[in-house]
Amino acid sequence: MVKYSAVKKILQIEVDKATDNGLAHLTHYFQNSVNGVSQHYEQPALDYLNQLNLAEEPQMQAYLPIKFDVPFPPPSTYDFTFIDLFAGIGGFRIPMQELKGKCVFTSEFNFHAQRTYELNFGEIPFGDITKLNLNIVPKHEVLTAGFPCQPFSISGKMKGFEDTRGTLIYNVFQIIEMRKPKVVFLENVKHLVHHDSGNTLRTIIKDLELLGYKVSWKVLNASDFGVPQNRERIIIIGHQNELFDFSKLKTKPKTTLKNILDKDVSFEYLDEPYTLIDDYKVQDSGLIFIGYRNKTIRKAGVRPGTENLSRVHKQPNRIYSTEGIHPALPSQETSGRFWIYDKGKVRKLTINECYKIMGFPDKFAKINNLSELYRQIGNSVCVPMIKEIAREIKSQLL
Ligand SMILES: C[S@@+](CC[C@H](N)C(=O)[O-])C[C@H]1O[C@@H](n2cnc3c(N)ncnc32)[C@H](O)[C@@H]1O
Repeated sequence: MVKYSAVKKILQIEVDKATDNGLAHLTHYFQNSVNGVSQHYEQPALDYLNQLNLAEEPQMQAYLPIKFDVPFPPPSTYDFTFIDLFAGIGGFRIPMQELKGKCVFTSEFNFHAQRTYELNFGEIPFGDITKLNLNIVPKHEVLTAGFPCQPFSISGKMKGFEDTRGTLIYNVFQIIEMRKPKVVFLENVKHLVHHDSGNTLRTIIKDLELLGYKVSWKVLNASDFGVPQNRERIIIIGHQNELFDFSKLKTKPKTTLKNILDKDVSFEYLDEPYTLIDDYKVQDSGLIFIGYRNKTIRKAGVRPGTENLSRVHKQPNRIYSTEGIHPALPSQETSGRFWIYDKGKVRKLTINECYKIMGFPDKFAKINNLSELYRQIGNSVCVPMIKEIAREIKSQLL
């Protein structure tokens, strides 16, 4: 059996802004050679190989079967198929594969995220979902999407999901209409509940119902699934016949930051003045706001006696105790200004600790670009939370 790393070298598999999905076709072909899905990808994959000017006419069979020597190889046997939309760095794919799901299609248009994805899964995502011919998406049982949130309201004039045209969820609905997956598994920020006075969520639910799904949703917190992070996300699940029962999810006791800290690495300590709060409180969420950097403290609108509340201090100035949990890692952060108070000193959370509080396994491979690493993890999902939901989806709905 030939190793993926060798095939990768010979066939110049390297995420490149100019490959125009040729490599996505090729890697999807290789990963789906035995499950009847490969015909979707074969011709464009061959076209890509032909352009490489290899000495002989490319015969894809010559490279198969491939041993995927990547951190998260496709499962050798599988119980269900899924697709990974707005795939980011694969926060859905890791737990879905662990539960014996076979990914048959993935899309993500960010170049750096595509590089991380290929490094970990040996497959390059297709690019911009709004520009793809969606016929390329094969039939699948579960559709997963942590889609970017855009506002829309119901025009009342059109029928079906046409009223979301021009938004990314519209493309998701198109795929659902074409391929009718058994289960639709969506994730978004908690704010979706209140977006456009609730219209955005109402529209999504109504459109899924029009497409023939029974829909349930719930806001869940990563801190209930074994990671020390206060990250609330809405989960929306649709199934053709049954309502998903969120009450069956198994939660875990809360854990704290001190249980996941790195040891024996060099830390970046805060070298500016800061203030520790004597009478700090453990918040209901489990956060402990224990101090703040002295600079840029908000002054306007701060009522006397409330100077020490976390909301008064801008996020990059706050310091949290390792006896508690961490606030949600934001997606826009590129320099990792997450300060913690650990063993009498204030230091930055390391990038490795950021991946741990999202529940990523240690073997997850990272690209060599720190600001992208911060951005990618802040955009991703809490892996153990997705795994628990996926486990229940498998048991209740598949
Ligand atoms: C909220 S993140 C989802 C991250 C993912 N769940 C993970 O585990 O890393 C949304 C992702 O959608 C991608 N995206 C946005 N618009 C897109 C489009 N038109 N086509 C493909 N991907 C898109 C972004 O680059 C981003 O990585």
